[in-house]
Amino acid sequence: MTIDAASNLNLEQMDVDATIHAFTSLADHAETGPHIMTSGDGIYVSDNKGNTYIDAMAALFCVNAGYGRHEIADAISEQAHKFAYFHTFGGNAHEQQIKLGERLLNILPDHMSKVMFASSGSEANDANVKLAWMYQHVRGKPEKRKIIARQMGYHGVTAVGASLSGLPLMHEPFGLPLPGFLHTDKGHYYWEGEAGESERDFSKRMAANLNALIEAEGPETVCAFISEPLMGAAACIAPAEGYFEEIQKVLRKHDVLFIADEVITGFGRLGTWFASEKYDLKPDLMTLSKGITSAYIPLSASVISEDMWKVLVGDPEKRVFTHGHTASGHPIACAAANANLDLMEGEDMVGNAARVGDYFKAQLHERLGDHPLMGEIRGDGLMLALELVANKETKQELDIEWDLSHRLYDLCLEENLISRGYFGHNSSSFAPPLTITTDEVDEVITRFSRGLNKLTDELVRDGRWKPAA
Ligand SMILES: Cc1ncc(COP(=O)(O)O)c(C=O)c1O
Repeated sequence: MTIDAASNLNLEQMDVDATIHAFTSLADHAETGPHIMTSGDGIYVSDNKGNTYIDAMAALFCVNAGYGRHEIADAISEQAHKFAYFHTFGGNAHEQQIKLGERLLNILPDHMSKVMFASSGSEANDANVKLAWMYQHVRGKPEKRKIIARQMGYHGVTAVGASLSGLPLMHEPFGLPLPGFLHTDKGHYYWEGEAGESERDFSKRMAANLNALIEAEGPETVCAFISEPLMGAAACIAPAEGYFEEIQKVLRKHDVLFIADEVITGFGRLGTWFASEKYDLKPDLMTLSKGITSAYIPLSASVISEDMWKVLVGDPEKRVFTHGHTASGHPIACAAANANLDLMEGEDMVGNAARVGDYFKAQLHERLGDHPLMGEIRGDGLMLALELVANKETKQELDIEWDLSHRLYDLCLEENLISRGYFGHNSSSFAPPLTITTDEVDEVITRFSRGLNKLTDELVRDGRWKPAA
């Protein structure tokens, strides 16, 4: 129990009494209460009970610069003292937002042209969908409205964001997706590849399925396709060889826009500033958030290509883009982003993510690859995951009802390691701050191995699993 000195109240109880938590069972939370974090330094976070953990997930794939960076805190404070807020409606602007927009264009792919700010990834995806709809409207193709996303993709929680997301548990309670939001294959070669099918052939089949969906709907009704370059909330599914090459051919053929949702993959996570660079993507729109401020303060951005910009700015009716939030381009958030980018550049965090990411993946293979439960080790850069199976030869699954992913999360927590639990599949993932060192990676794997061994012992002990003979 933690007593708040000012009010003499129990913080755990206050939380249960007052707050609804994100992606949390409301009923369970009332019984279990919160896990209250109090401080952070580098890759470490501490809770109010005095436990210190390695945060191998950078919270939600987002604290890229690591915890406790005074440079970002100082920039926030300075901006708040100097000029806390003015809006960006009706052509109003301020220095930090102007500088950040220009700076982003310097690191984004060359063909990207204009940036619009918001506060969350969900909002930036909403803006991108509206920019795509407006583009089609201005071109005289208002019937091109449908948006196609991938099953198991994650694009946020607003009504549009959740409709884009391909996770049934995000649809069922709300009667989503909205009409006109469709989903194509997840595109995970390990599970969806057919016997004897090469990755390249798998990618061609995925693209053929997308093509069939667009043709069945009528290409004249399809506005855009959205995808994460490397799927995060699906537990770090990297594209199969040739996946985006084949998909982009289909999009071009049917005049369908491509939205690259780089909310996680942007700002160095894969060892390049953006995944679009790494996977040779040519998106018409990009969605950015998380690492833009290393999550020190909320900020996101929607980015459009020069080709789209030319159409929008050339609108003969000079229509107003009737979109924007009170906090769009907030000066304090933009100041934090500029300070964060200074740190990322000054410390070559992107290069570190590339180098340490390669080491991390190689060590996962070396130290855990032969574990009898190990199905797939996957991902790229500092966005890695592993998936457990009952039999690695036959890929026989472990019972999903056992919810082993969350059990493993709890066992790792006992080892002072924060990994990540997933619903609906037996995966665990790692996406630490980009500042992580190889020694720290060794320690992450040591702690994780202890958690995994405890899980294995539990399964054997209660007869749920035994190693193949
Ligand atoms: C790829 C992707 N897009 C969009 C979002 C939504 O961002 P937010 O939670 O800031 O609304 C997320 C969040 O995790 C994400 O991973």
